[in-house]
Amino acid sequence: MSSFVIRGNLCYSINSNQINIRPQAYLVCEDGVCAGIFDALPERYAALPLTDFGDRLVIPGLIDLHIHAPQFAFRGLGMDMELLDWLNTYTFPEESKYAQLDYADRAYGQFVSHLRRSATTRAVCFATIHTPATELLMEKMENSGLISYVGKVNMDRNSPDYLCEESAKKSVAATEHWICETKSRFARTKPILTPRFVPSCSDALLQGLRGLLEKYALPLQSHLSENFGEIAWVKELCPDTEFYGEAYDRFGLFGGDHPCIMAHCVHSSDEELELMKKNGVFIAHSPLSNTNLASGVAPIAKYMEAGLRVGLASDVAGGDTENMFQVMAGAIRASKLRWRLLDQEVKPLTVDQAFYLATLGGGSFFGKVGSFADGYEFDALVLDDSALEHPQELTLRARLERCIYQADERHIAAKFVSGTRLF
Ligand code: GUN
Ligand code: FE
Repeated sequence: MSSFVIRGNLCYSINSNQINIRPQAYLVCEDGVCAGIFDALPERYAALPLTDFGDRLVIPGLIDLHIHAPQFAFRGLGMDMELLDWLNTYTFPEESKYAQLDYADRAYGQFVSHLRRSATTRAVCFATIHTPATELLMEKMENSGLISYVGKVNMDRNSPDYLCEESAKKSVAATEHWICETKSRFARTKPILTPRFVPSCSDALLQGLRGLLEKYALPLQSHLSENFGEIAWVKELCPDTEFYGEAYDRFGLFGGDHPCIMAHCVHSSDEELELMKKNGVFIAHSPLSNTNLASGVAPIAKYMEAGLRVGLASDVAGGDTENMFQVMAGAIRASKLRWRLLDQEVKPLTVDQAFYLATLGGGSFFGKVGSFADGYEFDALVLDDSALEHPQELTLRARLERCIYQADERHIAAKFVSGTRLF
């Protein structure tokens, strides 16, 4: 494992309302883990290799809690519909192409090389229902040096014939086979159970997935309370439930004894939120997707105040970019419109909160991730903002703010994941 020292202008969250800025400080990495921030390097670290990044900003790697790898191919296209029509018109036809490995090889190759260059150091990914293509994606993610969870998707009802598994039994069997093939194969890439959402999963399938969750102690991801049409459909499909989340919870697929991420939660009721809090369910807030698909705007400041666990997500291709800087800015903008137009009770998100959500907020799904404090895994981005010209000298804080609104992969000079430098 790697031990070294870097020097630069360190910026990281110490809580959801405060960014700590350490100008020209040394950050020590010992065996892949942050081991101290110093204004002058202590003698005991003098022998470690030192890289001085000069006047550049250094921030924790950004965490994407929810991204659909097969949808990367049509990012920025087909934004003229709401969720259910969008799925049927654009998404399902594209995902069906991953039955062909040569297509998957090309498309996932593009996805992974973009993600590797991006601000994302860790991601939680949906693949498709196809096992060989999902394994190929996992191999590519592993080789990228990024850390990720990848899910083979389950769908056995209300889906087009060309993208529907034959039965709950076959879906569960294929998933178990895939888990056994991949759970120990990779160092950085792990399987995650991935029922697409309640409308596309029968009771028997959800029951079967609970069995796999217990047998293999896996985390789980899905979608929740994203769109009004979707929520009404779930109510029709599950008339005995009081709220959408209960349709997962009655099968033990809603956190509690396992890590769980639910994407969106735009229109979650108080009961749903209460259960998520009790069960430690992570909310993957996807502001670009929620605006592109006109789903709505989740009251994120309220969720944070209530003590819910929240991170940010690109949700490509509902979101049109994998750039997590854009996701942070999008979260702030969406929260301002919500506040101005809908509800003055929930304050707009601040820069500090958005930065926290993209680092520590989502990072905590992966353990001690998202900070430079002692004991956190050493994930870092070195930002060269010299191309973002300004006629005056800006403070470090102002430079960080501008990066949140304006940076993309061209501004990333170096990237470290768990103590390994990717570039
Ligand atoms: N709900 C079910 N599937 C999807 C998907 O692919 N994207 C989004 N945004 N929501 C979904
Ligand atoms: Fe999604």
